[in-house]
This record gives sequence, C-alpha cells and structure tokens, in this order.
Amino acid sequence: MSKAIGYLCFCVLAVGCSSIAHGAGNASAGRTKSAACAGCHGTDGNSMAPTFPRLAGQHAKYLSRQLSDFKSQKRTDPSMQAMAAGLSEQDMEDLGEFYAVQKAESPAGDKQQSAGDDQVAPLSEESIAAGRTVFIAGNEKTRVAACSACHGVGGEGNGPAGFPRLKGQYSAYLIKALNDFKEGLRENDDGAMMRTIAGKMSKAEINAVSAYLSNLR
Ligand code: HEC
Ligand code: HEC
Repeated sequence: MSKAIGYLCFCVLAVGCSSIAHGAGNASAGRTKSAACAGCHGTDGNSMAPTFPRLAGQHAKYLSRQLSDFKSQKRTDPSMQAMAAGLSEQDMEDLGEFYAVQKAESPAGDKQQSAGDDQVAPLSEESIAAGRTVFIAGNEKTRVAACSACHGVGGEGNGPAGFPRLKGQYSAYLIKALNDFKEGLRENDDGAMMRTIAGKMSKAEINAVSAYLSNLR
C-alpha cells in the first residue's frame, strides 16, 4: 500500500518535472537549429523573397503550431512539409522562440503585388485605404468579420490566443494565405475561422487588405 503511494508520488513528480523541462522553447538552441531555414527565411527570420513569409517577431506559439501542422500534413506545402518532417516537438518550440524574439525589419511594403494570374494589385493609396477599412471594420454587407477583432488594431496579433501577427508581412504571402483559406487549400485553422472569413472576401478585398498590412508599421 505505502509502496503504491510512493510510486504514485514519484510519477506525479516525474510528470511535473518533465512538463517544466519541455514547457518552453530556448531561443539560443533555436538559433543553431535555424541554420537549415536561413536560405529561405533569412538568418533572422526576415525572409529573402515575398513568397517566403517573414517569421521575425511572429508569436512563438503560432510558429511552433504551424511547424507541427506541416509535420502532420494538416497544413500542406512541399518545402515546409519536408523541412518539418525531421523536427521534434522541442525543436519546434526552440525555433518558434528564436524567431519570436528577432526584430522584424520595417514593413515589407513591397511596391508590387503579384501572387498569380488575376492577383496583381497596384499599391495605390486608394487600395491601401480600402484595405484599412476591411481590416478595422470588416464588410457589414457581405458579413466579413473585422480582422482587427482578432489580429489587433495594429495587426500585432495575440500570442496566447494563437492569432498571428500580420503587420509588415509580405503582401504576396498574405494574398496566397487568404486565397488558400478561401479555396480550402489551407485547412489547419481551428473551427474553420479563417476559411469562413476568407470565403466571404472578394479578390479585391484580399488584395487591398494585404497591401494595407504589408505597409503597416
Ligand atoms: C525552400 C524554402 C524554405 C525553407 C528551407 C524553409 N521554409 Fe519555411 N516556408 C517556406 C514557404 C514557401 C512557406 C509558405 C508556405 C505556404 O505558402 O503555406 C513557409 C512557411 C513557414 C512557416 C509558416 C509561417 C506562417 O506565417 O504561417 C513557418 C513557421 C516556417 N516556414 C518555418 C520554417 C523553419 C523553422 C524552417 C527550417 C527548419 C523553414 N521554414 C525552412 C519556405 C521554406
Ligand atoms: C475570429 C478571429 C479572427 C478573425 C476575425 C480574423 N482572423 Fe485571421 N486568423 C485567425 C487565426 C486563429 C489564424 C491562424 C490560423 C492557423 O492556426 O493556421 C489566422 C490566420 C490568418 C492569416 C495567416 C497568417 C500567416 O502568417 O499565415 C491571415 C493572412 C489572416 N488571418 C488574415 C485575416 C484577415 C485579412 C482578416 C479580416 C478580413 C482576419 N484574418 C480575421 C483568426 C482570425
């Protein structure tokens, strides 16, 4: 009897300790592990090309969740599924922590958007202003939810809630992400939150909100 209680106590302690040890990522371990990622995402997460999302300053929990989703193929992308295949849970947390504490360069603010056939939008002042309206207030007529309700008025996201930061991200990547949600090509959003919202957006709204966000400081 007392032996059984002793064993139980040992188990509780062991579980307690291991959850502390694996509770959080380690940024300096993440830096070492990020060498394989630098070719596309830059040495500090300020990616080289507009089709590679910027990771610098993104929330750690969001980043590690995405890596886990690529590994389990819940989110699909040939390069990223291959990159995530060999990562352990600890690797994902370390990498997430490393990129989260990197400083995002000033907004991508790419001057030209092109993410495929009919998705080229001029970054005019009008387009940016229209994007701001959608971001802050949504579209009442078509029932597009206000992005700012979850992603923050400044586009900074919400780490604990799992809402990614969007400000300063490349517009080409944002356009692709929104179109992927709209077309059901990206299905890893819990409760289909983003699929529902993007499904109601017009291509013009997707282009405009992406222009606005890529220029947001
Ligand atoms: C060959 C280029 C390439 C390499 C190398 C690469 N990535 Fe990526 N990564 C991409 C592309 C492309 C996407 C966007 C996929 C999509 O469109 O859904 C992406 C997306 C991501 C995302 C999701 C970002 C978001 O905002 O949702 C994370 C996180 C990420 N990569 C982390 C990493 C890590 C960590 C490594 C190294 C272990 C790595 N990547 C290596 C090309 C690459
Ligand atoms: C109810 C909350 C909510 C609202 C409102 C919302 N989003 Fe999101 N959004 C999310 C969540 C949660 C995710 C992360 C999904 C995942 O885990 O992959 C996300 C992801 C995204 C992504 C992908 C980011 C990346 O790095 O890959 C983009 C782009 C995006 N949202 C744009 C928008 C826009 C534009 C609007 C307004 C039209 C909007 N969202 C409204 C919750 C929301």
